[in-house]
Amino acid sequence: MNSIPEVTLSDGKKIPQLGFGVWQVEDEQATPAVAKALETGYRHIDTAAIYGNEAGVGRALKSSGIARDELFVTTKLWNDMHHKADARKAIETSLEKLGLDHVDLYLIHWPSTVKHGDAYIEAWNAMQEFKAEGLVTSIGVSNFHEMHLDRLEGESPVIDQVELHPTFQQTELRRVLDDRDIRTEAWSPLGQSKDLGNDTIAKIAEKHVRTPAQVIIRWHLQLGNVVIPKSVTPERIEQNFDVLGFELDQADMEAIAKLDEGNRLGANPEDADF
Ligand SMILES: NC(=O)c1ccc[n+]([C@@H]2O[C@H](COP(=O)([O-])OP(=O)(O)OC[C@H]3O[C@@H](n4cnc5c(N)ncnc54)[C@H](OP(=O)(O)O)[C@@H]3O)[C@@H](O)[C@H]2O)c1
Repeated sequence: MNSIPEVTLSDGKKIPQLGFGVWQVEDEQATPAVAKALETGYRHIDTAAIYGNEAGVGRALKSSGIARDELFVTTKLWNDMHHKADARKAIETSLEKLGLDHVDLYLIHWPSTVKHGDAYIEAWNAMQEFKAEGLVTSIGVSNFHEMHLDRLEGESPVIDQVELHPTFQQTELRRVLDDRDIRTEAWSPLGQSKDLGNDTIAKIAEKHVRTPAQVIIRWHLQLGNVVIPKSVTPERIEQNFDVLGFELDQADMEAIAKLDEGNRLGANPEDADF
């Protein structure tokens, strides 16, 4: 079986660089999808309270029989739960649904400043308490820009999970995160499948006798991103994991670097109104 590289976080913990995302997967569907991912070899699962599928993910984790310390589970605190008492309720609910006594990584899902002002700062303080209590092993953020990171107090987040794919490469934000010793985690790494049809990606895939998805995942790994492609299709779940047996060369990496066209698919964290 492939052995997925690990990335060391600034708190000393390790995260499998390739994980499995489950956004827009119904609770019932999450169980077979995650079961298939675990059977394939993925050990890192990315869910969130707002996805509504933590229970389905938890059922797959439990029935896999895989030892807890071999699994890496991330979930996220939703925007309307940033105040301290709410955040505590949120982590307790997530753990109960997942059937776990701790998650490996807990993220603030969005800064959500338009709707909830500065409440994310309170959430960050609460998360440091959850870490001290052992409810969560590592703490990080998602959809944070430099202006949001600047306002956090205490510990530094270990990761920022942000939209990142070949047509939206976040070059400047990646540099900011590198400078702060914060790992970059790519959400919608395949551009929600829209980047798979790109001609340059297709040519590189042909050259390596690989699929466009494999080329894009490989690109993320070689850039150093933690990457969490989603699929509910068994063959694609396998295909997306089979990315260790080839390498993109410098010309491939340079060609993909040119594909950035600012093609943001999700909300801009600075004006997201949810
Ligand atoms: N923090 C955040 O705010 C945030 C936001 C968005 C996403 N995320 C996380 O990031 C994960 C991944 O992002 P995403 O789900 O938006 O999009 P994605 O992984 O970029 O793309 C998923 C889409 O690509 C298709 N696909 C997957 N592998 C394929 C392959 N080998 N060949 C062809 N098509 C393929 C999937 O189809 P099928 O499923 O039908 O196979 C699905 O339609 C999410 O699941 C979630 O965990 C986080």
